[in-house]
Amino acid sequence: MDRDDERRALTRRELLRLAGAGATTALLGCGDDDTSADASLGDGGEDAGLSGGGANDASTDDAGTDAGERPAGDPESLVESDAFGLGVASGDVRADGAVLWTRYDGSDALHVRVWRMEGETYAALVHEADVTPADGGFVHVDVPLPQAGARYRYAFVEGEGDATQRSPIGRLRAAFEATTLAPLVIGAVSCTRNGRSFGTLERAGMRDDFDTFLLLGDTTYADGAVSLADYRGKWAENLATPGYRALRAATSVYASWDDHEIDNNWDPETIAPAQFRAALDAFFEHTPARRLSESPDRIWRSARWGQTLELFVLDCRSERRPSTRRTDDATYVSAEQLAWLQRGLSESTAVFKVVMNSVGISDFPLLLDAGSNDRWEGYPAQREALLRFLDEANVPGLLWIAGDFHFACLGHVGRDEAALGWNQWEVLVGPGAQVGNPLSSSCRPPQFPFATRENNYTDLAFDPASGEVTIRWIDADGAAFATQTIRP
Ligand SMILES: [Fe+2]
Repeated sequence: MDRDDERRALTRRELLRLAGAGATTALLGCGDDDTSADASLGDGGEDAGLSGGGANDASTDDAGTDAGERPAGDPESLVESDAFGLGVASGDVRADGAVLWTRYDGSDALHVRVWRMEGETYAALVHEADVTPADGGFVHVDVPLPQAGARYRYAFVEGEGDATQRSPIGRLRAAFEATTLAPLVIGAVSCTRNGRSFGTLERAGMRDDFDTFLLLGDTTYADGAVSLADYRGKWAENLATPGYRALRAATSVYASWDDHEIDNNWDPETIAPAQFRAALDAFFEHTPARRLSESPDRIWRSARWGQTLELFVLDCRSERRPSTRRTDDATYVSAEQLAWLQRGLSESTAVFKVVMNSVGISDFPLLLDAGSNDRWEGYPAQREALLRFLDEANVPGLLWIAGDFHFACLGHVGRDEAALGWNQWEVLVGPGAQVGNPLSSSCRPPQFPFATRENNYTDLAFDPASGEVTIRWIDADGAAFATQTIRP
């Protein structure tokens, strides 16, 4: 240990002493570090190429402490600082790690701490590291989680030896190890328009039973933004709300985008490159996602929760080529993304294969066809090729999840039993905070057992023993106003 290391360790001890003042110091160790197997967040594990350290451009300044040998301390005894106006978040969770996020508006030294929980008890401090915010105060730090499937809490702590202030305390669960087959409860939402009430998110943020949460896009409505400052402003409007602060602290997220993170129904073939760059940078600045080392701007990726579930996060916006609509070469997603998705879905050994698809792929009723240019249906050659591939591969446990339409529904992808995709199910979740779309009433049985225009967040309970998924749409008062169970 050199002089700098000594100073750093002393600083940490001092921090811990202060953090633990008046707290129970249960000297527990995690011990059973069995997380080796499932680190597959990447494209099917083949060329995952994930950057190991600092997930984005913020850096972790040292390797942090080892797992399982530190007294837990009690972060709740520290005062919550007002320098974390957008709260905290975690994402891209694997069995052995997660990206932790905040935006720090202060100027003190900053540290991240992660505790393994046993119920409400801080069982052990499993990681601590100094972090340096990037431009704009954004922090993305990729932390190890020593025990797969365990629940953790984390916080960012301000200052050196006399630290007394911290960020909000965030919660997350590590993904399952590769062999685990256990139930999962996953929340989801789409479409939260700036300026509206985010009561659905506040309600979701009160729960402590989510394993993770899916953001299907239109997380912010940045329409009109051009510069990075504009986009940052739009993101901050939403993330500073009690709804987003509560939700993103309560559980980890996997995030895709839809159009409004960039502009309403934007066209990747004509958008000004500088504007797209600003929108993309702002998306990554505010999202607890890893930058893929070989392809740092790519948002499509997969994540594995043991044998229970594999999640495929699509990018259905930035790779589309509107000039190819309704041609034989229709490109809604790139050939590379399509091949990755087909390979991943057909080869996955997970019981459930869930596809995060910002805009629905179903054959929607005629009344909704006015907007079909903007979704899979506007690119029929590629849509049909994908559906045919999946029908022929007969992928069990496949579930499409989408948002965008400002109504929620459950339905068959194909219009009738003779159509492509009849055996594939799609769930629309949300809108979390939008004007409900009255065209939901045109989605009727037998293709659509359920549809509503009511604002909601959605939860999906995956039971690998029965193969069933129970979906509930829940309003801002916490009432599950609709429940559907399917066996995809
Ligand atoms: Fe929307």
